Amino acid sequence: MPRKVIIDCDPGQDDAVALFLAMASPGELDILGVTTVAGNVPLALTQRNARMMCDIAGRRDMRVFAGCERPLRRAPITAEYIHGATGIDGVDVFEPDTPLEAQHAVDFIVDTLRNEVPVTLIPTGPMTNFAAAIEREPSVLDNVEQIVSMGGAMREGGNRSPSAEFNVLADPHAAEIVYNCGRPVTALGLDVTHQVLSTRERVARIRELGNDVAAATAGMLSFFHRYDTRKYGSEGAPLHDPCTVAWLLEPDLFQTKRCNVSVETDSELTMGHTAVDFWHVTDRPHNVDWAYTIDADGFYDLLVERIARFGD
Ligand code: RIB
Ligand code: CA
Repeated sequence: MPRKVIIDCDPGQDDAVALFLAMASPGELDILGVTTVAGNVPLALTQRNARMMCDIAGRRDMRVFAGCERPLRRAPITAEYIHGATGIDGVDVFEPDTPLEAQHAVDFIVDTLRNEVPVTLIPTGPMTNFAAAIEREPSVLDNVEQIVSMGGAMREGGNRSPSAEFNVLADPHAAEIVYNCGRPVTALGLDVTHQVLSTRERVARIRELGNDVAAATAGMLSFFHRYDTRKYGSEGAPLHDPCTVAWLLEPDLFQTKRCNVSVETDSELTMGHTAVDFWHVTDRPHNVDWAYTIDADGFYDLLVERIARFGD
C-alpha cells in the first residue's frame, strides 16, 4: 500500500523537483495534498508555483492549498537572490490549470489528520503550516506516522546566516515545535543536501530524458545553481528538498543517527541554529533521526529513473 503523505513546500526549484519525484512514485506515495507556505518567495508565488508543477507533471487533479503567509512569530524572510523573482526562474511562468483549493492549508492538515491514519508529513520549506496545525490541535499528532523534513545543519554551518539554514531560520519556533512533537522525525539538513550537487553532467542526464518534466527540471537547475556555484565555488547547486522524498523511496541511500536536535529561538546572533548533539554529549532527548551521509550517485540515479517515467 502506498504511504499517505502531505507535502508542504515553498517552491523554489528544489521543492519543485521534490514534487516531481513524489508524483513520479504513486506506487510508494499517495499524495493526499500539497500545502504551500511563504518561504523562498511570498505565498502568492509558492502556491502558484506548486500548481504549475502539477500542470507540468500532468497532475491537474492534485489538491493544492495555500497556507501561512508569514512565520509563527518572526518577520518573513525570502530568498529571491537564490531562486529568482518568480521563485522558479529557469522555467517559463504560466497561469496553471491546477486549481487552488479554497480551504486554508492548516485547516486541510488538521482535517486530514483527524480522518486519515497514518499520514507522513514532508515539510520542504519553513515548517509554519505543520507547526500551526499541531499547536491548534495536538491530538492530530496521533495520526502522524512520520515527519521527513528538509532543514537544519550541523557540520555545514548556515546557508542564510553563519549559523542557520534557511527553512529553520525562517521559522525557528515552528521547527522547534516539529522537532519536539513526539512523533518520529527524520531531518535532512545541509550536511547531506550539500553532497548532492546538480553538476552539468547530472543536469544533462535529466535533460536527455526528453519529457516535459525533464525539460522543466533541467531548466530550473540550470538557473538554480548560479548562486551556490559563485558562493561555494562548487559545480552545481545542492538539491535540498528532493532528499526528503528520496529518503522515503530509498532510505538505504542515507545514513542517519538518532540524536537531539535543538533550535536556537532567542539569540539574534544564532537564531535558527540547529544544535545537533550527534555525539550524545548531553542528556537531551533523542528527538530526531539526523541524516549525515548520502550516496549522491545513487540519489541521482533514482531521480533520473523516476523523471524518466513522465515520458512513458
Ligand atoms: O536551505 C535550503 C532550503 O531553503 C530548501 O528547502 C530551499 O528550497 C529553501 O526553502
Ligand atoms: Ca524549500
